[in-house]
Amino acid sequence: MRRRAQIVDEEVFMLLVFGSINFDIVIRVPHLPVPGETVLGHEAAHEPGGKGANQAHAARRFGTPVRLVGAIGADPFGARALQRLTTAGVDLSGVRELAGVASGLACISVAASGENAIAVAPGANAQVASAWVDDATIAQCRALLIQGEVPLAEALELARRFRRQGSVVILNPAPVPRHPLPPGAVDWLVVNQTETAQLCASLGIPEGERLARGRHLAKDLQCNVLMTLGAEGALLVRRDGRQAHCPALAGTAVDADVGQVVDTTGAGDTLAGVFAAAIAEGIADEQALRLAIVASGLSCREYGTQAAQPGRAKIDATLAGWESLLVCTE
Ligand code: RIB
Repeated sequence: MRRRAQIVDEEVFMLLVFGSINFDIVIRVPHLPVPGETVLGHEAAHEPGGKGANQAHAARRFGTPVRLVGAIGADPFGARALQRLTTAGVDLSGVRELAGVASGLACISVAASGENAIAVAPGANAQVASAWVDDATIAQCRALLIQGEVPLAEALELARRFRRQGSVVILNPAPVPRHPLPPGAVDWLVVNQTETAQLCASLGIPEGERLARGRHLAKDLQCNVLMTLGAEGALLVRRDGRQAHCPALAGTAVDADVGQVVDTTGAGDTLAGVFAAAIAEGIADEQALRLAIVASGLSCREYGTQAAQPGRAKIDATLAGWESLLVCTE
């Protein structure tokens, strides 16, 4: 503990994000195509994306010093994928440009309802390695945020090194890995309903109501669980079984003030990024969740992913106006 306190004084980066960087091609369509169907949409938008990059961007917009470790290919898509991160002030010294491999690419359809469907070609993301992060960097960070779009073995090896130093590790298993997660590998799991169902299936956890499944996950994986519930908010299930529920921005009177949901792409990334940033800053988990819910809700009111992520002032102002609605209940 003493060592950790000394490090905090010298800290430069509070949060390290180890994850994917993609270039997104986004088409707005009246509805998502079903198998075999072609749907005519609007003109395509080209956006920086990738779950790692989106989460790092959200955390930096929240105001937390962030370093992103990842990879792009030596092609024009890679440079464009980094543009918003550079503008936001994310430290990109841990991003490598790899020769002979393409940058990660995502094709995204966004329906008029705000729902989306995404297909990803990982490209350079498949070669990201934990050895790219040295011990001096780990000593400068209070938290690590990882996802499923880079090799899981590498992410978990880095998690092991962070936890050995006493840092908090947060995993957003998106997409859910094919092999079951080992118990005790991370401190926090941030999952949506689909990911919860897939993880429960891989661990042999029976069907059941959400709280029971959250408790099973927390017990089997020996970690805290933040389960997002879409329009119903999110559930915190702590390792010791204590739980808290926070409602979503949508569905409260806030809706009238902040506008309609137009695009949910990357809403989970915004939530994971802001939650991790707040935890890295030492904010208590329930307050971190409320800040993350507000940020994620606001990001759905504009098109785009990184482009739609709110800054700290807007998050704080929205939360201040609606604090009484976003009370976590035990
Ligand atoms: O979560 C949204 C992201 O998923 C997109 O930016 C896309 O690149 C994929 O990684």
